[in-house]
Amino acid sequence: MALSEIEQAKRKAGYAAVDEYIQDGMVVGIGSGSTVVYAVERLVERVKTENLKVVCIPTSFQSTQLIVEGGLTLGDLSRYPDIDVDIDGADEVDDNLTLIKGGGGCHVQEKIVASCAKKLVIVADYRKDSHLLGEKWKKGIPLEVIPFAYVPVMKKLEGMGGKPTLRMAKNKAGPVVSDNGNFIVDVDFGLLEKPSELNQQIKMIPGVVETGLFINMAVKAYFGQADGTLVSRP
Ligand code: A5P
Repeated sequence: MALSEIEQAKRKAGYAAVDEYIQDGMVVGIGSGSTVVYAVERLVERVKTENLKVVCIPTSFQSTQLIVEGGLTLGDLSRYPDIDVDIDGADEVDDNLTLIKGGGGCHVQEKIVASCAKKLVIVADYRKDSHLLGEKWKKGIPLEVIPFAYVPVMKKLEGMGGKPTLRMAKNKAGPVVSDNGNFIVDVDFGLLEKPSELNQQIKMIPGVVETGLFINMAVKAYFGQADGTLVSRP
């Protein structure tokens, strides 16, 4: 079946990141989400055809499955705390390559892996490319929150002017539970003029494990376009 415009755009970005950044002998972070699937598809192809030796570090249950099902070498941060390149998706990317991540609830492990990587490369489709965060992504900033603390955390976020929502599961009654056993709260602060300051403030709330704001982490973003071309920044 032919891929939709959006899927083709995701594939374009995923393939470009692998072709331009991955080399033999590297330790590679594998992000989470639907766009990373195409990066892994291309990596599997290159490992087979070029006999590349790469070790892959997952960022979630989903990405562990992608690595294992693709027959790639699975590593972990205990053995490989230094990552050469991390390829991951994003929910939104601003002009400074500041990101909102966590639409799939995996941002804690994604941020830890990204922090261990020399280069974080983002793969996305044209819908994620914004000037300011909050312009296109309207679901709010994903936060991972300790279950015990979710009500006081939400009250404190409201006090800061945010609109928090506890993320609910789709095929199970009750909340989404992250890979780390925590809840996800999505908090809407509208357009983010100063994401770094907001990130600091949110992180000060006891019970917040991590935010989905990735600041000064990404070095490159690829955006597959609706017309089949590719845009990259910077
Ligand atoms: C996972 O929690 C997220 O950070 C994803 O990386 C992000 O939501 C991008 O996912 P898609 O590639 O599916 O849009």
